[in-house]
Amino acid sequence: MNLLKEKGIPIEKQIRTWHDIVKRPYNRMETDCYTRTRQILMNGIETEAWSFKHCFVRKSADRELNKLLVNIRRIEDMQQTTVNWLSPVNQTILDTTLGYEQVAVDLTAWLAQNEPDEYVRETFDFGLLEDFDHLYRYAQFAYLIEETNPNEILQNQTDVLIGRPTQNHHNDNAVRIRKPYDKDKTSPITKVNILTLISGEQQTHNYYAEHGFMYGNTDLKRLYAEICDVEEEHVTMYETLVDPNETMLEKWLIHEFTEACNYYNCYKDEVDEKLKLIWEEFLQMEIGHLKAAADMFKKIENRDPEEIIGTEVVLPCHFESQKEYVKNILENEIDKRLSKDEGYIRTDNIPSDWPSYKVQEKAAQDGAPSEQAVRLAAKSLKRDIACADEKLLNKQPELLERGLEKEAQAPNTVSSEKYKKFEKIPPLDFLN
Ligand SMILES: [Fe+2]
Ligand SMILES: [Fe+2]
Ligand SMILES: [Fe+2]
Ligand SMILES: [Fe+2]
Repeated sequence: MNLLKEKGIPIEKQIRTWHDIVKRPYNRMETDCYTRTRQILMNGIETEAWSFKHCFVRKSADRELNKLLVNIRRIEDMQQTTVNWLSPVNQTILDTTLGYEQVAVDLTAWLAQNEPDEYVRETFDFGLLEDFDHLYRYAQFAYLIEETNPNEILQNQTDVLIGRPTQNHHNDNAVRIRKPYDKDKTSPITKVNILTLISGEQQTHNYYAEHGFMYGNTDLKRLYAEICDVEEEHVTMYETLVDPNETMLEKWLIHEFTEACNYYNCYKDEVDEKLKLIWEEFLQMEIGHLKAAADMFKKIENRDPEEIIGTEVVLPCHFESQKEYVKNILENEIDKRLSKDEGYIRTDNIPSDWPSYKVQEKAAQDGAPSEQAVRLAAKSLKRDIACADEKLLNKQPELLERGLEKEAQAPNTVSSEKYKKFEKIPPLDFLN
């Protein structure tokens, strides 16, 4: 399907009533976990669509173009309200947080497997193992504070166990900078994949920044602070993959194309009839935005939009269980780190002058909240909160052995010796 050839809803017909903007939320207990991940992701996509247009107008002196941009960005803002407010009031912040990390894990795994650019794919795989570990750390608190079995939210689609340890995610942020793609040689799918992930990671950062303080438990607040900071690094890592030489109009075109492709994918996959209607309507609205952007691109830059976005819709957000893929990356890449020359290294090859050591030494001086989470669980339960098949769970000490750096460890690090001593209770019996 060529989205530019579709009819869409014209911009002037996209204002909606407040009754229409605020829809009835989905049900926390009954919703499919991947309906929730779609809702979480699309909220992030809309926030990016809105904030990008603010940056654009602040830099643009073209009055005619700006009139169009400010009207479309209000529509984006209204869409964002609709999508974000589909969250039910009885879904706690920790529930939603598990949902955010489920998005990160299963979306990144999907994107990595559909990414034609080798270096971009490697970067996705790298980030994947970090969000995978965040899910594990938050799951400790979801159980300890709210008695939530992580599978109430994840529905057994995503494993919960140790990944690359969060205390090792803190880098000199300049080390996070990646090599940008070449805008003239890169396929539309790569551009859409990256922008989709930037939007998701940025929204995750914002959610933790805006909600982490809402718990009275200091250890949990510190965990939100710690992981919020990693999400900032993730935004840095993914956004520096984008070619800075794209013009703002070109970027706008890619933004609308990304929105439309994501809604198309949501519409195609959705099992909740009510949400399916929203994805369908918003897809039609985005086609309207895309056509407006394409017209401006032709008019101002005198270039063909299909040179940038191609002629086919792409599928950037198909959600399904990625346990096998993630397990493979976990077993093979847990000891990978970012090198300072925009590549990757293994823990046994990190040079002593690696800039991230300084950041890790300082940040972990008083202990890592991500280690504290597991310590607290072990204190009350004699083990951690982890959900995976037993064979994989039994590998935790070995994975940690390989995944943890020898240098700059937090004083409260839970050692692999301690993991070996955790009580071996079949995970589901234990959690039910
Ligand atoms: Fe939008
Ligand atoms: Fe994360
Ligand atoms: Fe992340
Ligand atoms: Fe849009």
